[in-house]
Amino acid sequence: MARLSGKVALVTGAASGLGAATARRLAKDGAAVLLTDRDLAGEDVAASIASDGGQAAFRLHDVTSHSDWAAAVEHAVTDFGRLDILVNNAGVAGGRHELMDHSYDAWRQILSVNLDGVFLGLRHAGPRIAASNPNGGGSVINLSSILGKVGMAGAAAYCASKGGVVLLTKAAALEWAPLGIRVNSVHPGFIDTPMVAGALAEREDGNEMRVALMAAHPLGNRFGVPREIADAIAFLASDEASFITGAELVVDGGFTAQ
Ligand SMILES: NC(=O)c1ccc[n+]([C@@H]2O[C@H](COP(=O)([O-])OP(=O)(O)OC[C@H]3O[C@@H](n4cnc5c(N)ncnc54)[C@H](O)[C@@H]3O)[C@@H](O)[C@H]2O)c1
Repeated sequence: MARLSGKVALVTGAASGLGAATARRLAKDGAAVLLTDRDLAGEDVAASIASDGGQAAFRLHDVTSHSDWAAAVEHAVTDFGRLDILVNNAGVAGGRHELMDHSYDAWRQILSVNLDGVFLGLRHAGPRIAASNPNGGGSVINLSSILGKVGMAGAAAYCASKGGVVLLTKAAALEWAPLGIRVNSVHPGFIDTPMVAGALAEREDGNEMRVALMAAHPLGNRFGVPREIADAIAFLASDEASFITGAELVVDGGFTAQ
């Protein structure tokens, strides 16, 4: 039996990059997956999972919206009968901003998706996960970053949002431990996705920056690939991680070991 069979997962930001790879991986492991995103391209990802024999549906969903969250959680339960796994993956890089002239609007925009969006996910999905798992067994995985552990110049709001996710995760893990719901954070290094390609493309020195960033990952001097993050998330989602909560799973090729 596949290790997630019988479980239902909701993955945000599933139209692209890590979210799409995670949705594919969870479905391959037997979960029924509701992919959500503010980008309709998620429909194609869900369709390709279904055509490979997985169980998947898609819903438009802005993670900064209370009403979208309520509807997405309802959708998962209506389509698949329960909710066990939440992957709070949707996020934005938000561009490069120097603190000396950082606009408050840009700060709020990054924090609202990357941190408020995770809070809203916990708030809306938590009660449903608890109701579906009266004897424990639910799992929440929040996407932080290596930039939730170390800083980077020009990325203050992103770092603050991802650092916030770390302690939001630990507080949730402690509150929900008595319910048997595990809550963990995942910390990717630089992974080859549209987010990283976009951030590099914005820079004059994008090529040099790519080479320097790759060299900062000792394991192979390369960027990671989405599959390597999806595998870590699937492990945390599964009962194989039954004694792991409040943990920071770093998947960064050694970036933060230095
Ligand atoms: N790629 C990396 O190197 C890396 C490293 C560390 C952490 N992360 C984190 O992993 C997550 C996924 O990143 P990715 O690289 O796959 O990025 P990506 O840009 O490829 O995908 C992000 C997805 O989130 C969606 N999204 C953005 N704002 C949204 C909103 N308000 N509501 C709903 N959906 C929204 C986008 O439409 C997109 O489909 C993010 O939280 C990111 O911060 C990525």
